[in-house]
Amino acid sequence: MVSIKTVAVLGGTGNLGPSIVRQLLSAGFTVTGLTRLTSTNSTPAYPDTVTVHKVDFASFDSLKTAFDGQDAVVSVVGSPGIPAQKLAVDAAIAAGVKRFIPSEFGVNTRKVRDWPIGKILKGKVEVVDYLIEREGEIEWTGLSTGLFFDWGLEKHGLSTINLQGKTSSLVDSGNEKFQVSTLAQVGRAVVKILQRPEETRNKYLVTSSFQASQNEIIKVVEELTGEKYPVVNREKADDLQKAGEEKLAVGDFRAFIDFLRAYNHKDGVGNAVKEEESANGLIGLEYEDLRGSVREWLVKAGVIS
Ligand SMILES: NC(=O)c1ccc[n+]([C@@H]2O[C@H](COP(=O)([O-])OP(=O)(O)OC[C@H]3O[C@@H](n4cnc5c(N)ncnc54)[C@H](OP(=O)(O)O)[C@@H]3O)[C@@H](O)[C@H]2O)c1
Repeated sequence: MVSIKTVAVLGGTGNLGPSIVRQLLSAGFTVTGLTRLTSTNSTPAYPDTVTVHKVDFASFDSLKTAFDGQDAVVSVVGSPGIPAQKLAVDAAIAAGVKRFIPSEFGVNTRKVRDWPIGKILKGKVEVVDYLIEREGEIEWTGLSTGLFFDWGLEKHGLSTINLQGKTSSLVDSGNEKFQVSTLAQVGRAVVKILQRPEETRNKYLVTSSFQASQNEIIKVVEELTGEKYPVVNREKADDLQKAGEEKLAVGDFRAFIDFLRAYNHKDGVGNAVKEEESANGLIGLEYEDLRGSVREWLVKAGVIS
């Protein structure tokens, strides 16, 4: 029976990484943080209990040395680091790492090949394809989590809620449900995957905190604040798709946001996680609650107490 105790995290210093590192540490894993030689990133840095190694992500030897003695590698690298993960897979195999979790943590990239958003996620798709190719030599688990709910609310009001202006924006009718996970839930999912190596071996898993529609989010914000957030901006998913294509044609990767909003919110698109697709049950990951997550955001933003 495979048992995973030591975990190397690549790129654990960004938006998502600290949540994963925190959950791994509190579950008792020994965590090593790998940061690029060229990294200027210091906030938020790895916690003091994490051994940190500077690694040349373009060097097989540097990566292999860093992976020696590690049971698992969890890659949380941001977009520019996605293609370099293939070399990390090679080095992990050479170092005898048992499990590789690539930097996925978003839409289900096994499903997006025929979508415009798939053009931008090609790098992620290729890394999972590569892991499948090397399956006899290393085990892997891919994890789709949907949109980071709390992070998205905090940064952009999920492109739905304008907290300052007390207004809302909708794509199509706003009734389509979409897949979301809080940052902490993503960390918990990674922990549960590593604690259940048999059940999660060589699988692409889809988990979430919950599925919600834009209208449900607006309704909860209105209930919790006791104020109205009228819809002042309506967009059509098909127009977003078109705008994304135009941006992509001139190499503007902000197209991703247009594509993502269309992918999540287009009426009838059905990209929310269906019960039979969800791996929450398989890994023993409890769902969270929309109201509780919105409340947390509003308290943090000082809107309610
Ligand atoms: N579902 C969502 O809503 C959502 C939102 C955001 C991100 N994501 C996904 O979550 C994953 C992590 O994203 P993130 O936003 O946390 O990433 P990020 O903050 O942009 O970057 C994470 C870390 O990656 C390392 N990195 C940066 N450039 C690199 C390069 N060229 N080569 C190798 N490493 C590099 C850096 O670590 P060092 O400086 O320590 O080397 C950085 O702190 C990605 O797969 C991303 O697509 C999903």
